[in-house]
Amino acid sequence: MITLTVFNHAGGAGKTSLTRDVGYELARSSLRVLLIDLDPQANLTTWLGVEDATREETVYPTAVDGAPLPHPREVHGLHLIPSHVGLAIAERQMNNRVGAEGRLRRALTQVHNQYDVVLIDSPPSLGHLAILGALAADRMVVPVPTRKKGLDALPGLFDAFAEYREVRPDLTVALYVPTFYDARRLHDREALAELQAKLRPLARPVPQREAVWLDSTAQGAPVGVYAPGSPVHGDVVRMTEDVAQAAGLRYEVRA
Ligand SMILES: Nc1ncnc2c1ncn2[C@@H]1O[C@H](COP(=O)(O)OP(=O)(O)OP(=O)(O)O)[C@@H](O)[C@H]1O
Ligand SMILES: [Mg+2]
Repeated sequence: MITLTVFNHAGGAGKTSLTRDVGYELARSSLRVLLIDLDPQANLTTWLGVEDATREETVYPTAVDGAPLPHPREVHGLHLIPSHVGLAIAERQMNNRVGAEGRLRRALTQVHNQYDVVLIDSPPSLGHLAILGALAADRMVVPVPTRKKGLDALPGLFDAFAEYREVRPDLTVALYVPTFYDARRLHDREALAELQAKLRPLARPVPQREAVWLDSTAQGAPVGVYAPGSPVHGDVVRMTEDVAQAAGLRYEVRA
């Protein structure tokens, strides 16, 4: 089992989209996949069609009380530990508990025979829940928009990683993924060139294409279910190939 935490404290970087769709593709390729939604916004949860999760089904009992992982939902061939707005309270509860941020990693060791890959979707913050996810990772996957805001977030990201490595010296970035790339825009081409100069390893850029991404969230289904064979599905397959290669996972399905 390998645990990959999809991380960027900057909002709207493409974390949840990557988690949902790479997770779905890996499951389609017959890997046993667990997704964990660590964001109280619960986008990953609702974008997989789960609307009725409770706080007790989230990582709350694990993070706050050190309980084993809750029983996951099964959805689109994946297992999901969902989120709920009530998970936000965990931020405060974890404040006074020494070692709370290591609890997800410990809980995951109990399910290591059940999954090939765990993908964790981080909230857009550097708070306790984000640290909980980062410290649970074997490796990180970091989506970065090919925009000024993507570049501006990098120093904060590197500072955070340096801090996490004080606790987990082995924590490395498996892959940076350029997102929202519009090759027609000079700004994006320049930003991508800067990412190529600064970040390694770097995936192929994921093109910006609104409609299918947005509509699939409303439908609560991965792109591979909502629009199989579409250009966006082709983008998802490429992104999955790059993540799988970087993480040493087998992925053989094509769009
Ligand atoms: N390649 C793409 N082209 C166009 N829109 C996209 C693309 N990928 C994702 N989106 C849309 O962009 C928005 C932001 O993406 P997403 O929610 O995955 O980012 P995030 O990093 O998880 O955000 P947050 O920080 O709020 O958790 C979503 O509405 C998503 O549907
Ligand atoms: Mg998100």
